[in-house]
Amino acid sequence: MTVTRRERKWWKEAVIYQIYPASFCDANGDGIGDLPGITSKLDYIASLGVNVIWICPMYESPQIDMGYDISNYEDVHKPYGTVQDMEVLIRETHARGLRIMLDLVINHTSDQHGWFKESRSSKDNPKRDWYIWRQAKYSPSGERLPPNNWRCNFGGGSAWEWDEQTGEYYLHLFATEQPDLNWENPDTRKAIYASSMEFWLERGVDGFRVDTVNMYSKPGDLPDAPIVDPKALFQPAGLLYCNGPRMHEYLGEMNKVLSRYGAITVGELPCTPDMAKVLQYVSAEAKQLDMVFQFDVVDVGFGKTHKYETTLKNYKLPEFKAAVGRTQGLIYKSDGWTTAFVENHDQARSVSRFTDDRPEYRALGAKLLALMESCLSGTQYVYQGQEIGCVNAPKESYPVENYLDIDSYLFIKMVKELHGDGNKEELDKAFTALQHLARDHARIPMAWNGKAKYGGFSEAAEKAGEAIQEPWMKPHPLASEINVASQLDDPDSVLAFWRKMLRFRREHADLLVYGDFRDIRPADEDLFVFVKEDSHSGHKAVVALNFSTEEKMWQLPSAEELGLKEVKLVPIMSTQQGKTKEGVLAPLEGQVFLAQ
Ligand code: GLC
Repeated sequence: MTVTRRERKWWKEAVIYQIYPASFCDANGDGIGDLPGITSKLDYIASLGVNVIWICPMYESPQIDMGYDISNYEDVHKPYGTVQDMEVLIRETHARGLRIMLDLVINHTSDQHGWFKESRSSKDNPKRDWYIWRQAKYSPSGERLPPNNWRCNFGGGSAWEWDEQTGEYYLHLFATEQPDLNWENPDTRKAIYASSMEFWLERGVDGFRVDTVNMYSKPGDLPDAPIVDPKALFQPAGLLYCNGPRMHEYLGEMNKVLSRYGAITVGELPCTPDMAKVLQYVSAEAKQLDMVFQFDVVDVGFGKTHKYETTLKNYKLPEFKAAVGRTQGLIYKSDGWTTAFVENHDQARSVSRFTDDRPEYRALGAKLLALMESCLSGTQYVYQGQEIGCVNAPKESYPVENYLDIDSYLFIKMVKELHGDGNKEELDKAFTALQHLARDHARIPMAWNGKAKYGGFSEAAEKAGEAIQEPWMKPHPLASEINVASQLDDPDSVLAFWRKMLRFRREHADLLVYGDFRDIRPADEDLFVFVKEDSHSGHKAVVALNFSTEEKMWQLPSAEELGLKEVKLVPIMSTQQGKTKEGVLAPLEGQVFLAQ
């Protein structure tokens, strides 16, 4: 649908702060973050100027994939707390004028979920059909083979697991312990809605981040994926199993439940390069999802056959800019909505990936990205630690044994299988890739206080005189340098800059939240210069970002470049306020101008 004026909504203007419960704040000193820990930090969160918190899965789970393997939607992972703790968190969040979203993980459950236990118990169990079971195939020599060649999302193995007891394979697009639910079965869908959605909506949550939202409907005949990685037995198959034939029917059905509660949704939308397809999910008229996370930006620099089969920074700035441009373009003359984010719990730290994390550049890089993100249209997301400019754990001080994510250790396992256990060169290459891109970096416990034990992760318990345990994941080696306490009262800190940028975004919402984006120098390999335009009023802002670590002379955009007869550009924001020089962008400097 074509629209001329963008409809304003509270959630479009909102900034959403994402929390990873295991690593946010540990209130009871057991070394694992918890719900009371989150509640204790709500004032801090509110002080950033955000409007919503999104909590990654806090449900009962064996934690094979950090809670994305749920064994009971209606209970809380014990080390995090209880359903009552959730009720307190919901209440306290609302009391501060914030809203709260949960993670909705319903493509799969844990293999320890009661539904799967029943399903796998026998072929005639009433819940057999709640998951995706298929018979084996056999090679000409009689070797048993999985039903197709799909690779699962972690490591290099098959997406099918053989079940000895009932003599069939079940599908798991992620870990073996995460069997895919069969959405074709209407009883399964009803049970999913009641248990995972209504249970929490009744308790007052305001919306969901919907995990892997385009994988519920699989292509009927489950065809083999084309061979893109000839050295591998199993092939990446995302383009086949994402966006299947019944996706929009299912989402329409889900939306009926969600809209009864006025719940907002943001879906995770991998493997969807086609913008017309993306729009089908987020068009307001289609009533499917409010917005989605596209992967264009966060996939920049990933390997083509496996995301970690890559080298450091193997992309050029125009590729990054084009990716930003695609996600921004989604709202151009459409009734859809987009998101602005560069981090989440599945991504390494953006300062390390997209700028430069050497000590002298770190804070500059963090501010540059804060300025960029805050000037992009769509609902903005900030991931815990991003607001203090967290960087990846350095290679020298954080050995590969510290990486606990299943995605990381299955990658190392795959490399060992391919190249041999003792192949130092290949293993070091793999470690280099993980140091650059692994999900672990986002999951390292938050550093609240550089002077306290374990970066202050369990500070409240320590202050109360309790013995505290080492965090579940080794603390960040740079916790004494990058932490909340040291930035709280420093007006020049990354944290102070984030607060300033979020205020600035609110003040210029017409341009920055709702405006049309146009990259005016897409080929420039050092500078990202884009225009934001309010098509209604004709107001324009110019954003100029120097992604290099060198000072750059540059020409302000001409009236012609801006589509105007004449123009005066008035500087209104810089990452280096007070130190800017006309016609010059300092290393990693970002500036904003208003066109008059
Ligand atoms: C999503 C989550 C990721 C998880 C996967 C499987 O991509 O963000 O953390 O591993 O789904 O549930």
